[in-house]
Amino acid sequence: MMYPYQIKSIEQYQEAYQKSIENPEAFWEAIASHFTWHKKWDSVLSYNFTEPKINWFQGGKLNITENCIDRHLATRGEETAIIWEPNNPDEHTRVITYNRLHKRVCMVAQMLRNLGVKKGDRVCIYMGMVPELTYAILGCARIGAIHSVIFGGFSAQSIADRLEDAQAEFIITCDGAERGNKNIPLKSVIDEALIANKLVKKVVVYTRTRTPVSMLKGRDVWWEDEMEQAEHQVEKNGVVSFPAEPMDAEDPLFILYTSGSTGKPKGVVHSIAGYMLWANYTFLNVFQYQVGQIHFCTADIGWITGHSYIVYGPLSAGGTSLMFEGIPTWPDAGRFWEIVDKHQVNILYTAPTAIRSLMAYGLSYLVDKDLSSLKVLGSVGEPINEEAWHWFSQHIGKGKCPIVDTWWQTETGGIMISNLAGITPQKPAHATLPLPGVLPVLLDENGFEIVGNKVSGNLCIKLAWPGMIRTTYGDHERCKSNYFSTYPNLYFTGDGCLRDENGNYRITGRVDDVLNVSGHRIGTAEVENAINSHSGVIESAVVGYPHDMKGQGIYAYVIFEESNHDHQLTKQDILQTVTRIIGAIAKPDKIQFVNGLPKTRSGKIMRRILRKIAEGEYNSIGDTSTLLDPTVVDDIKKTAL
Ligand code: WTA
Repeated sequence: MMYPYQIKSIEQYQEAYQKSIENPEAFWEAIASHFTWHKKWDSVLSYNFTEPKINWFQGGKLNITENCIDRHLATRGEETAIIWEPNNPDEHTRVITYNRLHKRVCMVAQMLRNLGVKKGDRVCIYMGMVPELTYAILGCARIGAIHSVIFGGFSAQSIADRLEDAQAEFIITCDGAERGNKNIPLKSVIDEALIANKLVKKVVVYTRTRTPVSMLKGRDVWWEDEMEQAEHQVEKNGVVSFPAEPMDAEDPLFILYTSGSTGKPKGVVHSIAGYMLWANYTFLNVFQYQVGQIHFCTADIGWITGHSYIVYGPLSAGGTSLMFEGIPTWPDAGRFWEIVDKHQVNILYTAPTAIRSLMAYGLSYLVDKDLSSLKVLGSVGEPINEEAWHWFSQHIGKGKCPIVDTWWQTETGGIMISNLAGITPQKPAHATLPLPGVLPVLLDENGFEIVGNKVSGNLCIKLAWPGMIRTTYGDHERCKSNYFSTYPNLYFTGDGCLRDENGNYRITGRVDDVLNVSGHRIGTAEVENAINSHSGVIESAVVGYPHDMKGQGIYAYVIFEESNHDHQLTKQDILQTVTRIIGAIAKPDKIQFVNGLPKTRSGKIMRRILRKIAEGEYNSIGDTSTLLDPTVVDDIKKTAL
């Protein structure tokens, strides 16, 4: 099988790009016609970026699970959809064919219906990386329920906030999750998250770790029991069926929470048809996926990368997706490479932070590894530094695998700027060129477009693309003010960007108060709020600083109520507080106790100064004359970490 819209040469890329910008409707209509629809669309695209209101394939009806599963059954039913590699290498791998995936997803859909879940209901999924997580996601999509996956590292408090925001009535979780030598008691975290919750009616618990759990009568049910019952309902005389709900093209598919520069995380909403096309098109073109290849995306499904490139992208293409439960450094730092050899992985898609950390372990973990199955390598989540790029290329790709440096965001649904593996030129540390459908522009501080090459500015997108964010759940105004108000008629990414002499893009990092720590997005305001909830903290300010391993580290300046407290102990308390309120991923790397913060006369904290101090750049702090009290800067410098 060949993929009809896979770009095979640089000329084809240029042609596709041109078409997609000149006539996006004709371009995407041709691609959409390769999918399974219950009813054809009336119009391909109508949109405005002021409300914003984005409409792709209006009037069309479809179900994404038929496109990810059913349409492959006739020809690829016994081919592998998912290979699951357990945390513990001594445990058995699981291989899930498309036929099996179909049956499981039908069973989950039936189970959800039995439990009272209806089209449009929000189902929160808080599970480890087990195949049942994929079944749960697709089971929701089959009946038209909106899934909202929460990463297993978030705290009970974070979950409680998200449940409330999404007004979720159903949860699917596990008793526990295994990650490295840690066992995370997921169900008991859910119990804590539900203490003050009045909405959740049912919690389904899948048994993974056999950790003792408490099951609340009437609310909590076992996955295994419910699935057994559902199996009898969906299977008749050896034939499995559960009719997929015909959904409107613009019905929401999922909500995924992500951090912004202000307030609590917001629920990014993606809708069905556009997201499906985008995940599929970008997957096929960026990675140049070929039928039968094994695609290993190392992300967690709790993040957008896992949604698009473990679940929806590969499955919509009838591909084989490898799902790994564990972490790259357990039982040792050779685990990824061992998995590549064991399953003959062809495409490895990972994050710069993982590459840097494995690089630091040296080459000894590579001596007995073959890695010759690899054809394409990918990087995502943060800027990749040249050293990591070269190490990845040389030691993992053996100099023969193209590396795709893929820039995108939770809000964009899929990859936006990237080279196409082996088709368009690569350049270390550059995401290079926009995909067809993506029209990037750079803006200056005053809102003027910067034209020409060898320039830098704030990255915006000018045209609507199928996979773009539709709204922020329950608060459309927030979507508008966050992304569509900074520059009229443009989507603002929050990233700074260079364009080189050949028109290649290089993302330089966030220009707002969002940090990127080990590829995880964290808002400074969120961390400050968490720190400030410690009873002894008067005020705090959080900034990022360059960190060798994590990309960015978190630096917190804290004003504490007494000056003669035990600093070491207080730091531990603050870390504990942040872990409890957000999760361990948001723990500051450095905490400096200060007597005051640099504020303007109107009371605004001058983060620019704090960033300079955190970076150790004392000589380029700049003008401090507008500060209410310029002497605080010297005080802070004296005790800087
Ligand atoms: C950053 C992850 C440089 C960027 C898919 C963006 C990158 C944020 C790259 C989105 C890349 C992602 N090069 N920076 N290849 N990919 N970023 O929502 O700052 O978790 O805005 O989505 O990660 O993070 P998110």
